[in-house]
Amino acid sequence: MEMELTNHTVLITGGTGGIGFACARLFAGEGASVIITGRDHNRGQAAAEATGARFIQADLSDLDSVKSLVRQAGVVDILVNNAASFPGAPTLEQDVAAFQKTFDTNVRGAYFLAAGLVPGMLERGHGCIVNVTSMVASKGVPGASTYSASKAAVESLTRTWAAEFGSHGIRVNSVAPGPTKTEGVAAEWGETNEELGRALPLGRTADPEEIADAVLFLASPRASFITGSTLHADGGGSAI
Ligand SMILES: NC(=O)c1ccc[n+]([C@@H]2O[C@H](COP(=O)([O-])OP(=O)(O)OC[C@H]3O[C@@H](n4cnc5c(N)ncnc54)[C@H](OP(=O)(O)O)[C@@H]3O)[C@@H](O)[C@H]2O)c1
Repeated sequence: MEMELTNHTVLITGGTGGIGFACARLFAGEGASVIITGRDHNRGQAAAEATGARFIQADLSDLDSVKSLVRQAGVVDILVNNAASFPGAPTLEQDVAAFQKTFDTNVRGAYFLAAGLVPGMLERGHGCIVNVTSMVASKGVPGASTYSASKAAVESLTRTWAAEFGSHGIRVNSVAPGPTKTEGVAAEWGETNEELGRALPLGRTADPEEIADAVLFLASPRASFITGSTLHADGGGSAI
């Protein structure tokens, strides 16, 4: 797929590390103007230099920060809702603050970022949203209750937004990754992620670039008749 996104601006939340960073590199290689976000300024600058993207500091768990991001970003053709919080805890040990933070970032942040950017897409008569969810949105995984529920909410939003905006030329889809080798997940889940990978039909974790390929496909004109769907990039995890 060569230079499929010339003249398109893509905003990738959490584009300073892991899957978001791999997306930023891939989309830039396809000719897109790329905007990445993250909370950490230094990490953001380094990622911007490495990818040629523009960095906007933003915390998706903070509504004022989300509103400011909408203002600063300007015209956005493709939104990749990728930033997320993924703390693990058994339900009986879940603390309220981490529950709140997870839903504020993963659901409320993604929701109001889309709500802020879609009016521009409606005006221009085209647009695309790819929500990065998770294999565990549709599976019961002990210790992942809050995170899984937040991602299931986003898959529901994918369907509603596809229905609300489809007649205006806006497509909305999800990519549901399986366990993927990123710094963020290694720090939070450690060896558990590798164990989840070994249990998949493909028997391994993904590289972030393999998830980015799925995001690019859904954002590209090759997916022009696909909306409201969830693409399982999970080594077969959802099939068993
Ligand atoms: N890796 C996996 O195994 C896996 C599996 C399924 C789904 N996913 C999903 O894939 C997406 C990316 O995960 P990843 O593994 O690539 O994560 P990661 O390596 O931890 O990177 C997360 C990115 O999001 C940013 N971020 C985190 N919290 C944020 C917040 N509140 N506001 C703004 N930016 C924030 C981080 O930068 P700062 O820290 O500087 O803010 C970083 O750029 C997430 O939606 C995750 O749920 C991952």
